[in-house]
Amino acid sequence: MARIAVTGGTGFVGGTVASVLAGQGHDVVCLVRRDVGPGFPWPTTLVDTGDRDSLARGLDGCDAVAHLAIMNDFHGMYADRRTAWDGYVGLTRRVVDAANLTGSRVGYVSTDWVFDGTGHLVPEDEPPNPVNLYGFLKAASELVVLERAAAGFVARVGGVQGLHQTQQEGPRSQDVGFGYFVLALVEALRDGRRFTVWEDPHINAVATPIVSPEIGALLGRAVDRGVDGILHFAGGTAVTRRELAMATCEVFGLDAERVDFGPPPDEARLPAPVPYDTSLAGEATMAALGTRTHTIHEQLGALRREVEQGSPVPLS
Ligand SMILES: NC(=O)c1ccc[n+]([C@@H]2O[C@H](COP(=O)([O-])OP(=O)(O)OC[C@H]3O[C@@H](n4cnc5c(N)ncnc54)[C@H](OP(=O)(O)O)[C@@H]3O)[C@@H](O)[C@H]2O)c1
Repeated sequence: MARIAVTGGTGFVGGTVASVLAGQGHDVVCLVRRDVGPGFPWPTTLVDTGDRDSLARGLDGCDAVAHLAIMNDFHGMYADRRTAWDGYVGLTRRVVDAANLTGSRVGYVSTDWVFDGTGHLVPEDEPPNPVNLYGFLKAASELVVLERAAAGFVARVGGVQGLHQTQQEGPRSQDVGFGYFVLALVEALRDGRRFTVWEDPHINAVATPIVSPEIGALLGRAVDRGVDGILHFAGGTAVTRRELAMATCEVFGLDAERVDFGPPPDEARLPAPVPYDTSLAGEATMAALGTRTHTIHEQLGALRREVEQGSPVPLS
């Protein structure tokens, strides 16, 4: 098994990636930029993420680095573009350069928002055409990995659903992307509240959701098999928000009569365009990784088990 460093391990997706990789038997170390305290579940190395050599010391002895850290603040990145550039592209360049120094393969988690949202089930070789700064910074960071890493892959994900591993109160509210949608819906209906599924031409309306543990499982497979290039870690079903809500009610045994449909509130809108259909085709990736895509009902079944048992449930 490989020794794999994870950046962004204190975050939503990175924590689950660390958990699943460790569960697969990989030797995991999270590169953190602050003291995370004694209760953190995986070994950590404190690094200065602004310094390549500090990152290289953190990567010493690692076969690979799963790079997930980002400045995750959509409004903030518009307010301070220089910091945003560094929090995405600069950081990715330093991680790649450090990985090249230590002979580590880079696995960069990217997003379906590198596309403009006019396609449907787009393949891995579709050229990106981002419509907002987040998508642009992710696409630019992808290029850093693809052009600069001695060994590396870009794994695009979208519609990520799951539990936060290290924060009791994980993100749980609907937003104009697909993230957190399912658990926000489940929580509202279980609390006896109604839930309004947003429908609007100016939000992310179609995606291929994936549960976060599956991202960890697929990353492990890519590292183990030495698969490089652009990968789509996509669920096997392209769904609208309405279809996802209905499937969630079926799988979690919830009353679909309590679901309403309507536009998002003005305060939820972002100060930039949002891609409409960001569904990804993942079949070629899955074939390269020796697995298959999983339907939305399989993804939601895994999420339900994750909620019930309190630990990640990978599918591959
Ligand atoms: N969530 C989704 O639905 C989704 C969808 C598509 C793609 N992704 C991708 O998945 C990755 C993880 O996203 P997430 O939702 O898990 O994010 P998140 O929960 O906001 O976590 C962000 C992580 O990045 C770290 N970080 C922030 N700024 C940093 C900096 N300047 N230098 C070093 N580390 C920094 C944070 O560390 P601290 O704890 O120290 O702040 C945290 O560990 C990202 O690359 C994102 O583009 C996510």
